[in-house]
Amino acid sequence: MTTPTPLLSVRGLTRDFGGIRAVDSFSFDVPEGSITGIIGPNGAGKTTVFNLITGVYRPTAGDILFKGEPIGGHRPDRIVRAGIARTFQNIRLFNRRSCLENVLTPLLQREKSNFFAALAGTPSARRTERSLREKAFDLLTSLGLDAFAPLQANTLPYGLQRKLEIARALATNPSLLLLDEPAAGMNPEETRSLARLIAEVREKFNVTILLIEHHMDLVMNICSPVIVINFGALLAEGTPDEVRANPDVVAAYLGKGRKGK
Ligand SMILES: Nc1ncnc2c1ncn2[C@@H]1O[C@H](COP(=O)(O)OP(=O)(O)OP(=O)(O)O)[C@@H](O)[C@H]1O
Ligand SMILES: [Mg+2]
Repeated sequence: MTTPTPLLSVRGLTRDFGGIRAVDSFSFDVPEGSITGIIGPNGAGKTTVFNLITGVYRPTAGDILFKGEPIGGHRPDRIVRAGIARTFQNIRLFNRRSCLENVLTPLLQREKSNFFAALAGTPSARRTERSLREKAFDLLTSLGLDAFAPLQANTLPYGLQRKLEIARALATNPSLLLLDEPAAGMNPEETRSLARLIAEVREKFNVTILLIEHHMDLVMNICSPVIVINFGALLAEGTPDEVRANPDVVAAYLGKGRKGK
């Protein structure tokens, strides 16, 4: 039996910032259809890996393959069009716009690159905008945010703003969704409900998910494989049980630091 090509494959990924090697020959795969977790101590390089995958930074070295095609160093908008969307550790929404507009904007942008611009103001364009508004509302409903559609985004509690970011990311119709600490600031009950929601999102939108999280219960309940990064390098990978039982992982989390040092 041949193993299917992973949806995302990262090989020898390296990124330096001046004298700091934030990501160090890091390799891992995201199997199609999985919810893959990345864990690691603060400053380990997790967000930098997302920034490299999404084109915010260029790799110093190494390859990023999406659906078998190299995407390392491509521009962020090209990577979005290829089918990768993300949320941010520090929430980035249009704060003063409504929740609906936050989701509608990427839908309109996508349409604009097709034919919408040529038809602006025509009845056909108005029909298109109406159907996109419905789509935006459906996305909010999927995330349990329909009641908040008209409210200004920054009036929502943080937990709901994080869900709104997921709805916005889904509006670009991704096949891979990157979530950077989606449960940050949530209590245990909210975290459990988010875990269920993430699993539902994967089913409903047929999307593969790669998520960074510090909430171990969330990672251990819904992620497999789990990738562990420490000092920019791969420390361990496997099922949640394998990772939990790995002595290097235990040592890193007890603050004993880098393997072999
Ligand atoms: N633009 C940048 N310029 C300089 N150094 C950077 C830059 N971005 C990240 N770093 C450094 O790279 C290292 C990894 O940072 P990163 O944000 O990727 O960690 P992280 O694993 O996401 O941490 P956290 O769990 O705290 O979010 C840190 O030492 C950080 O200071
Ligand atoms: Mg981070």
